[in-house]
Amino acid sequence: MSSPAQRVRELHETLHQASYRYYALDAPTLSDAEYDRLFRELQELERAHPELVAPDSPTQRIGAAPSERFEKVQHRRPMMSLDNCFSAEEFDEFAERVHKLLGDEPVTWVIEPKMDGLAVALTYEQGQFVRGATRGDGTTGEDVTANLRTIKSIPLRLHELPPALFEVRGEVYIAKSEFARMNAEREAAGEPTFANPRNSAAGSLRQLDPRETARRPLAALFYDVGEVGALEGNPAPGHPFKTHLEKLAKLREVGFKTNPINASCTTIEQVHEQFRKMQAARHGLPYEIDGMVVKVDSEEQRARLGAVSRTPRWAIAWKFPAEEEATTVEGIGVSVGRTGAITPFAQLTPVLVGGTTISLATLHNEEEVHRKDIRVGDRVFIRRAGDVIPEVVRVILEARKPDAQPFAMPPDCPACHHPVARVEGEVVLRCRNPACPAQLAARLQHFASRLALDIEGLGEQTCAALVDSKLLQSPADLYALTREQWLTLPRLGEKSVDNLLEAIARSRTPRLSRFIYALGIRMVGEATARALALRFPGPDALLSATVDDLQSVRDVGPEVAAQVRSFIDQPENRVLVERLLAPPASIVPQPEQIVSSGPFVGKSVVLTGSLSTMSRDEAKAAIELRGGRVSGSVSRKTDLVVAGADAGSKLTKAQDLGVRLVDEAAFRAMLELP
Ligand code: IVH
Repeated sequence: MSSPAQRVRELHETLHQASYRYYALDAPTLSDAEYDRLFRELQELERAHPELVAPDSPTQRIGAAPSERFEKVQHRRPMMSLDNCFSAEEFDEFAERVHKLLGDEPVTWVIEPKMDGLAVALTYEQGQFVRGATRGDGTTGEDVTANLRTIKSIPLRLHELPPALFEVRGEVYIAKSEFARMNAEREAAGEPTFANPRNSAAGSLRQLDPRETARRPLAALFYDVGEVGALEGNPAPGHPFKTHLEKLAKLREVGFKTNPINASCTTIEQVHEQFRKMQAARHGLPYEIDGMVVKVDSEEQRARLGAVSRTPRWAIAWKFPAEEEATTVEGIGVSVGRTGAITPFAQLTPVLVGGTTISLATLHNEEEVHRKDIRVGDRVFIRRAGDVIPEVVRVILEARKPDAQPFAMPPDCPACHHPVARVEGEVVLRCRNPACPAQLAARLQHFASRLALDIEGLGEQTCAALVDSKLLQSPADLYALTREQWLTLPRLGEKSVDNLLEAIARSRTPRLSRFIYALGIRMVGEATARALALRFPGPDALLSATVDDLQSVRDVGPEVAAQVRSFIDQPENRVLVERLLAPPASIVPQPEQIVSSGPFVGKSVVLTGSLSTMSRDEAKAAIELRGGRVSGSVSRKTDLVVAGADAGSKLTKAQDLGVRLVDEAAFRAMLELP
């Protein structure tokens, strides 16, 4: 039997090692249960032998008594801040200055995501965590040691014995998913919510009671080594690193987590490329970043470049364009969808957000407008993140005009003036008039859309004009329109009409799945339409399917089956299908091809980046048509990754896992496309 002191040491070692593997390497070796068991054993030993409780014991992450206020800490070396730039041109100016100051010698650039958290400096003496401070004004910060101890990705003791004094710097943050969970919990408990992950991290780290901090999901990543050397009294020997990359490697060696997507470049073009990749990867990352940091790698070059006041000349933060901007709500309108759903939208004073001018934002539904209390005339923050539809984040209440009126949904459909109603259990209001022209125009647009019958040239405006002109009451009427009738529509010349007539003729032999999708059955998207087409050989079989037949189809549950059945049960829908199949429309849906050989059969494919010759939907359809499956994330089960331009984190992951990668040209060759 080992002595209690020995066993405590063993447990320290095992538990420290386990948290390092878990939090820094993402490669746990102990199960959670094993960890808990050993942790409790240590707690019990410490209770029996209080003299064995060491300050760096894994049990000491929680429990310090609350303090009145934070002590001030003088940083041994100032914590500098970064200069910003907002465009490729501005970055190039920075890089040119660096090259000029260095006499045009080669430069290696290190690229790191700019974490949107808060900077901290941690001091380790003889390998033990003794003090942690916020950045403060860069010279003096606040001592938040007790709170930092509660963060599991901060090692309490270092792996190997580094120099007597070892100071590291990094960012404390809260992951996006944890932030959402925490806000939902706060909302449920009636507590105020945080505006964003950064604020919630800052608020959590500055709690006076460390027990409260321990309950917050804080994490940390490290990007710098500060002071290294001997302890007080002895002059520090300066730090031993020649490059930033060496520092990062050292950080990992002694137990800190560094960012796995850091990269290095040797040309300005590569830095530009990294910026595009970082922007593409941004929304897929688990934490928020607001740009990327570009740093000169060589310490010797850094020394020559120096700093201007508190900003180094050897690094810069290249920020992403803002995704949130303020503008004014000029009006609130409603649109009518193909299922009659009435959706409110905001008309905005045009504003540039994330590189695009935005003048409309969705308001989702009535409940949402009331929850956010959005009124005409309000100043609002709008947000457009990536490809997401722009939306109103919040109203700037301080700027509200006294006479601003709460929004009310119109009682009638704006298109047909029938009263609108809410279906039980639904949030949306719907126009229930089957003859509503706005619904008809939207149905027609869906019928002709790219993934449906793909009638090129039949877009939103033409569909609306056709309905207005009363030339058409159903998508089936499209096939009976004469050239002369088409020519009566505004803004359509002879050439456009001829193209349209050709496109309509081509649409007569669609694949069955496209035909089903084009019908616009609620809850039947493209994938479900394909599943139905594989199960039912033609439209007639589908029309006579029972709910049980429908539910036997892969991916079709009771709700979808009920929607399909209710569509079939409506006489006007049966008439529509019959008319589409009979002259003059004479559509002949083609049986769904089941491919049994070829490079995609049974394969799991991931698409990343953008393709220049086809849309993502088209690429997906092409793969599925050849028997493959398209999945959203890369794993060991992925067979192939198609990497287009500006591919981001999925590409990196594929490389890490050794998954087969092809570019657009090779992909087209596999598809046997020219
Ligand atoms: S380096 C002199 N690297 O940005 C260099 N900072 O304005 C000092 N930040 O206070 C910082 N990610 O909070 C560096 N990869 C990164 C960073 C980063 C975020 C923040 C940090 C700092 C501020 C500098």
